[in-house]
Order: sequence, then C-alpha cells, then structure tokens
Amino acid sequence: MPAPARRCLEHQGRTDGPLPYGPNSSSPELVAAVAGQHGIPLATEEVMVTSGSQAALFALFHAHVEAGSAVLGPDPGFVAYRSLAQLCQAQPVGYALGPGGALDADLVEAALVEALRAGHPVSMVVLNHPANPTGGLADADSLRRVAELCARHGAVLVSDEVYRELWVGAGGQPAGLHEAAGLDAGVVLGSVSKAFGAPGLRVGWAVGPAELLAPARVVHNAMTTAPARPSQDAATALLTSAAEVLPTARREVARRWEVLAEVAPELLARADAAAGRPDPGPAAGTGSCSGQQPAAGAGSRSMSRAGFYLWLPLPAGTDPAGTTAFALRVRDESLVTTVPGDAFGPRGAGFLRVSLGGPVEELVEGLVRLAPWWEG
Ligand SMILES: Cc1ncc(COP(=O)(O)O)c(C=O)c1O
Repeated sequence: MPAPARRCLEHQGRTDGPLPYGPNSSSPELVAAVAGQHGIPLATEEVMVTSGSQAALFALFHAHVEAGSAVLGPDPGFVAYRSLAQLCQAQPVGYALGPGGALDADLVEAALVEALRAGHPVSMVVLNHPANPTGGLADADSLRRVAELCARHGAVLVSDEVYRELWVGAGGQPAGLHEAAGLDAGVVLGSVSKAFGAPGLRVGWAVGPAELLAPARVVHNAMTTAPARPSQDAATALLTSAAEVLPTARREVARRWEVLAEVAPELLARADAAAGRPDPGPAAGTGSCSGQQPAAGAGSRSMSRAGFYLWLPLPAGTDPAGTTAFALRVRDESLVTTVPGDAFGPRGAGFLRVSLGGPVEELVEGLVRLAPWWEG
C-alpha cells in the first residue's frame, strides 16, 4: 500500500474518539479529491463514491437495467458485467473486440442490432479500456461513436476505466470517455484498487450525469451505507498524493513488462503478434523501466500498453476448445496459475490471461516455468 494511505491509517489507529458512519454520500474531501483527479470540471452530484468500482457496477446495473433487456459487454471481458446482467434478469450480450482487444464501434453496433432483432431493448452498454483481460484500448473516435449509438438507442453507457492510470511508455494516457465525448456521454468508473495500489480499501467511484447517479446512490446506500470511514480517509490521502503515487505505480508496471521482455521474450512476442502489435526488433526493449521514453518511431512494444495482464495465445496447434484443460495442465505440472481465456467469454477461447502482478521474484519464477510450454 502506498505510503500516504499507510500514514493515514496509522494516524487513525492512534487517534481516540468515535469512528462515525459514512457520510452516505462519502466525505466531501473524498468527493472533491475524485473530482480533482478526473480531468474535467465536476459538480458534487456528478461523483458517486462506492465500495470499490464493483459496488458502483452493482448499483448502476440495479438502477438502470430492466429485466428482459439486453446488456452489451466486451467478449472477452471482465466477468462481473455478465453476472450482474444475469442478476438483473437481463440478457448479457457480448460484443467482439478489434485487434489487440481494442474497442471497435462497428462491432458494438453489430451486437446492438442483433440484440434488438432478438427482441431485447438495450438498457446498458459497458466498455472497459484499458481492458481486463486483453489490455485493449479505445481511441477517442470510437468512444464518441459508441456514445452517439447509446444516445440514439436510450442505453446507459458505462465506461470502466479502472486501469486507465496504469499506462506504460510513450503512448501516454489512453483516451477516456468524458474527455472524448463529454460528461453527458455516460458514467465513468474509477478505483483506488489498481494504479493507487490499495484494493483492500474498497473505494471506487462513478462519475457522470447527476440524473444517472441519483438512482444508483439509492441502491448503493441500501447495500453498504458508505465505504468504511478509515478507507474513505486513506483513499483521500492517495488521491491528493496522485502526483507522487501514480508515476511510481506506472514505473512498477513498466518494470513488470520489462521483466517479461527479459525473462520470456517469446511469450511477449507471441502475445504482441496475436494483438497485431509491430515487432520492435531485438534492440528495442519496453523502454520505460528506467523512466526514459523510447524515441518516437522506435516501435517499442510499450507504446500503447496499459495494465498488467498478458493476453497470451495458446501454443500453436493447441485446440481452443481445450483452453481450460491446458490451463489446468500448466497449473498441475508447473504450479503456475493462469486464467483460461474462455472464463471471460466464449471469444476468449484459445488464450490465457497471465498476471504480471505479485512479487517480482515470483513473477520471474512463474515466467521461467511457463515459457517451455510454448517452445518447439
Ligand atoms: C475491469 C475491472 N473493473 C472493475 C473491477 C473491480 O475493482 P474494484 O471493485 O476493486 O474497484 C475490476 C477488478 O479486478 C476489474 O478488473
């Protein structure tokens, strides 16, 4: 956990006196810190602090998704979108992604048309960029096109951007929905769980039009009242120290990609080839571990990378229908845990999600054990 949060919690542990509730709408300091971090001017009613972005998703789904409607989400995509749609008795509909897991507005539109044809009005469209599990991004034009599509069809657009601060290399911060299409385009999710390194605090947020957040606040308050007070204060400490915390987190993630490039370059090359990323050639590393940016046009693999997941195709000749069986063999024979891609949706078959998180020594050991499965 980054030092500002630790210091805050230590201070709280030494302080006498009551430990109050909420407040339900969260502390004004935390709301202001979220607004300050978001990048566009916001009013208080346009920020909803929640118990992790997971609780923001739960509240938004229960406020806006009608039984019998369709919810569009990425396939492969973060599993909560599908299960929340089912909890709301809606139909989860996966849309395909472009090369490298990138958002492709045409593919979202195709899924929307298909859902309408099947008789399901579309109540919500969920985007996730940078994406879990693929690391895929969204460009500003695609975000604007999806926002227009949702506006035309009366669907609530939710853009899950919890990994957006974890970018690596010269590409800079990936596009965000509100910067690309304005606040009215939909709701953007953020969290202290990823770049701020504090998932155990359980603090996240939704930012968007007040009228979309108001009914979701009712759900969230009924569910949790508010995130725990010490967590709210520690999250405030993190957000107000973003200038110190985020560059450190980005350096740490860059280091993970560099470890991968050094220990198992063939795995990185296979993942990049499957994603359609150019081969940087033998001389170009990820370029950001030292804090230096690669020269423009150097073709570094780091140029548009974000997050800490490697989306790795199965070894050539392995049947995609056996994705889970392959992941289990790797687990049982090499004691390395990966997530089979089809756990994220049927289009994830043929891939494994490899996390670059955890202690670096364990990452190195895991990669050393993993690499031979792709040899030959
Ligand atoms: C894409 C995505 N969204 C949301 C979440 C939920 O995160 P949290 O509730 O910790 O903010 C996760 C967690 O892994 C995630 O990967």
